[in-house]
Amino acid sequence: MEDDHITSHFTRRDLSLLAQSSPKSALRVITLIDYDCFYAQCESVRLGISSDVPLGVQQWEAIIALNYPARANGLARGISVEEARVKCPNLILQHVPTWREGCASWAYRPVSTIMPGTDKAALGPYRLESRKGLELIKSTLPHSPPQKIEKASVDEMYLDLSAQVHSILLQRYPALLDVESSSKDEMLPLPRTSVLNWHADAVFGADAEDDHFDWDDIALNIGSEIVDNIRREIFKHMRYTCSAGIARNKMLAKLASGYNKPNHQTVILRRGTREFLSTHKFTKIRGLGGLLGTQISEKFNTKMVSELLAIPLSQMKEEMGLEVGAWVFNVIRGEEQSEVNPRMHVQSMLSAKTFVPKIVSIDQAAKWLRIFVADLLGRLDELGSENHRISPTIITLNHHIEGRFGPTRSKQTSVPSSTLITEKMLFNLALGLLTQIVAEEKSWPCRSISLRIAGFQSAPKSNTLISSYFMTNDQFTSLGLSKTSKEDSRKQQTVESLPRVY
Ligand code: CTP
Ligand code: CA
Ligand code: CA
Repeated sequence: MEDDHITSHFTRRDLSLLAQSSPKSALRVITLIDYDCFYAQCESVRLGISSDVPLGVQQWEAIIALNYPARANGLARGISVEEARVKCPNLILQHVPTWREGCASWAYRPVSTIMPGTDKAALGPYRLESRKGLELIKSTLPHSPPQKIEKASVDEMYLDLSAQVHSILLQRYPALLDVESSSKDEMLPLPRTSVLNWHADAVFGADAEDDHFDWDDIALNIGSEIVDNIRREIFKHMRYTCSAGIARNKMLAKLASGYNKPNHQTVILRRGTREFLSTHKFTKIRGLGGLLGTQISEKFNTKMVSELLAIPLSQMKEEMGLEVGAWVFNVIRGEEQSEVNPRMHVQSMLSAKTFVPKIVSIDQAAKWLRIFVADLLGRLDELGSENHRISPTIITLNHHIEGRFGPTRSKQTSVPSSTLITEKMLFNLALGLLTQIVAEEKSWPCRSISLRIAGFQSAPKSNTLISSYFMTNDQFTSLGLSKTSKEDSRKQQTVESLPRVY
C-alpha cells in the first residue's frame, strides 16, 4: 500500500498519556463550551419568546446581555436602555430579578417598581440554569473514565475529553491494540482514514492537500463528535444554543469557541493552528488580554500574532524575562499545557449593597442583612450536592460608612459547626456583628454594608451528628473545596452578587 512506509508522528507513549488525560499528551482533546448570549437566552426561553425576536437583559439602566437579533440591530453590551430603545424600537427588555428590602426572596418585578434604593440584583436564576446545564452535560458523558469538567464562568466550561476519546479510539481502531507489545517509543502506524465527517462548522487545517490524517486529527474528530452531541442535548432539553471550540489545549479551545458564534463549533487541528492564530490579535489570547498584552504590544509595536511570530525566543526572553518570554513564545504558536481543573475554587462568598440614599439605623440595616443571608444560603445550596451540604465556618460583616472605597470596619466570628446552618442563625450572627460595630463608634448614615461567609466545609446531608462527619482535608480537596486559612483568605476569589462572577 502506498502509505505503508509512512508512520504516524505519535508513539505508544502518546497514546497512554492520552488515556491518562495528561496535559503533556500531544493527542489531547480539550473543549470550551460557551452559551450564546447566556442571560438573554435564559430570559427568552423562560418567557417563551421566539429566539429571532430582539431581546436584552436589563440591570438598572444598563443592558447586560443582548441576543443575536438585537446585536444585528447594532446594539452592544453596556448600551443604555434609552439608547437601545431608539436604535431598536421592537427590542424586548427584561430586568434581572431583584431582592427587595423587606421581602424574603428574589422575584421578577415590574420594571417601574425597581429602584436601586430598595432592590438588589439577583442572578440566582442564571446560576441555576448554568448548574442544570452542567448536570445535563455530566449525564451525557460516560462515568468512566472519570469526567474532567471545569466550570470557568457562569456560562462556560472546559472539558478534557482525552480519556474518553482514547477509549473510543481503541474501539474504532482495534489495530492500535496490536501495538501493545511494541516499545513505548515506537511510532504508531498511520490511521488509514482519508475522509472524516467533522461534526463542526469550521475546521482549521482539514483541507491540507497531500496530507494524511494522523492520530491527533482523529482524536480531535472524535472530540468534535462528542461536543456536537453535547450541544444537541443541551438544545433538546433546555432550548439553549451554545458555541464550542475543540483543540489540543484550553487556550486554543477558548479562542476557537468564539470564532463562529452563535451556535457553531470550530476545530483547530495542529496544522491549522498558525492560520487560525494569525487571524487574531494576540490580546484575544487567554492570559494576554490584560497588562501583559499591553506591555507586549508596546515593546514590539504590534497587536498581531503573525508579527510576533517573527520574534526569536532569545529576544522574547530578553525583553519579557525568561519564564514569561518562553510562555509567550509558545502560546502564540498554540502551545500551552494548563490543566482542566474540576475544582470549584470557591473560597468565600460576598453579598453586598450600596445604599442610595444612605441608611441611618440598625433596623434599616437588619432588613438588608436578611436579604444577604437568603442570597448567600441560596448560593451555598448550589455549591452542595445531593449528598453533601456546604457550610461556612466564618462570617464577616463589613461596614463602609462612605462606600466600599472609604474607611471600612469589619467584625468576624466563627459559625458553630455543630448546629444546622439556618437563615435565622446566620442572621443572628450578622446582626450581632453589626451591633458590636455600631456600639464602638458613630456608624450612621452608612453608604454600604456587606456580609461574607468563608471557610467552607462539607457534611453529609442525612446525618444529624454533623460534626463527627466533617471531612478530612483530602476528602475536602477531592470535592473541589479547600479549607481557608487566614493566609489565603486575603487572596480569596470572591463570589459577589455582581454580573459575570460565578
Ligand atoms: N455578563 C455581564 N457583565 C459582563 C460580562 C458578562 O453581566 N461584563 C453576563 C452576561 O449578561 C452574559 C453572561 O455573563 O449573558 C456570559 O457572558 P459572555 O459569555 O461574555 O457573553 P454572552 O452574553 O453569553 O454572549 P456571547 O454569545 O458573546 O457569549
Ligand atoms: Ca457566552
Ligand atoms: Ca462566556
